[in-house]
Amino acid sequence: MADRIKQLVSHLSGTVMTAELWQDVPLAPPDSIFQLTAAYKADTFKDKVNLGVGAYRDNDNKPWVLPVVKKATAILLNDESLDHEYLPITGLAEFTTAAAKLILGADSPAIKEGRVVSVQTISGTGANHLGALFLSKFYKWNGPARVYLSNPTWGKPFNYIPSNILGTEGRSANHHAIFRNVGIEPVEYAYYDPKTIGLDFNGFIDALKGAPERSVFLLHACAHNPTGVDPTPEQWKAIAEVIASKKHYTFFDCAYQGFASGDLDKDAWAVRLFVELGLPLLVCQSFAKNAGLYGERVGALHVVSPNTETANRVKSQLSVLQRSEISNPPSHGARLVSLILNDAGLFEEWKRDIQTMAGRIIEMRRELHRLLTEKLQTPGNWDHIVNQIGMFRYARA
Ligand SMILES: Cc1ncc(COP(=O)(O)O)c(C=O)c1O
Repeated sequence: MADRIKQLVSHLSGTVMTAELWQDVPLAPPDSIFQLTAAYKADTFKDKVNLGVGAYRDNDNKPWVLPVVKKATAILLNDESLDHEYLPITGLAEFTTAAAKLILGADSPAIKEGRVVSVQTISGTGANHLGALFLSKFYKWNGPARVYLSNPTWGKPFNYIPSNILGTEGRSANHHAIFRNVGIEPVEYAYYDPKTIGLDFNGFIDALKGAPERSVFLLHACAHNPTGVDPTPEQWKAIAEVIASKKHYTFFDCAYQGFASGDLDKDAWAVRLFVELGLPLLVCQSFAKNAGLYGERVGALHVVSPNTETANRVKSQLSVLQRSEISNPPSHGARLVSLILNDAGLFEEWKRDIQTMAGRIIEMRRELHRLLTEKLQTPGNWDHIVNQIGMFRYARA
């Protein structure tokens, strides 16, 4: 019997099974950022620097395991009560509750009123995906399903890196791909102004005004990727005003809370302003950068709803979506972050670790600026290096 099946399969494999089945699958170009990392690793130059992936490095150009994370890991390892059972579909409740407070504020009325739905996700990418998927199914689109993304945004191809390093140019990963994958068409709004190497505030406002009512706008909560250009508080207020008047929906992506200024509350300011103004929104949150937990994939999606009843319905649908995609989120990273957020001592220690990282980034920017200008007298204006914030420096003509 087995021989007969093998005979049949070998007969087929010469034809349909191998030759024809996947012959229309085109070869995709490699991911530009991760290919750059591979090229960096293969390079033997001793003073090499990887300017691709947005991951923090210490003074020795090494990844930094936060001391508070080491401490929390030791606590978890010695906790006999822990097991490897599944987490609930929406994740570890102690984690999601604390994560919501971290971004929305411990005293957030929206949390107190039971209007916030929080779901643990596969880091910030998973939060973006789940948020996009939810909108694709349930958002009341005013016309075609479209999301407005800043130009540029996370994952836009790095056109200025030679194609022999990056392979075929033209890929547009991350934000664009995440929305396109769930049937939402990405369109761009003006954000970066090459003339000022800063924010194209008027262009941004015009785009908000010009979009049909109830459009979905993705806004970077702080430390915009890849420009490092954020609106000022006054500009945020003006943006919020137009969003309110046009009844737009805000899709906040917050991957760098604490990294922009070194202060968790300050970096959450725009999100909290929008919640306070009662604007409809969701927030994608990542602990990859601010807790140095890149590979643990710890994140959350928070949907702020108008009332508890709506929140319950939203939560029920997010659970259904999550169940069909990942069943349950992973436990280890969420336990680590939960421990840090819920223990006053560890929380203070984490804030100090964040200041160490943000402080170093700010210092490196100043030093690079000083070297380029005072020491090397490099022609041109390099002020954007110190004016932009977070991990990214961006200048494109
Ligand atoms: C703007 C933005 N959103 C989301 C993410 C998601 O990162 P992760 O999935 O590692 O949390 C990143 C990471 O670079 C980012 O820059």
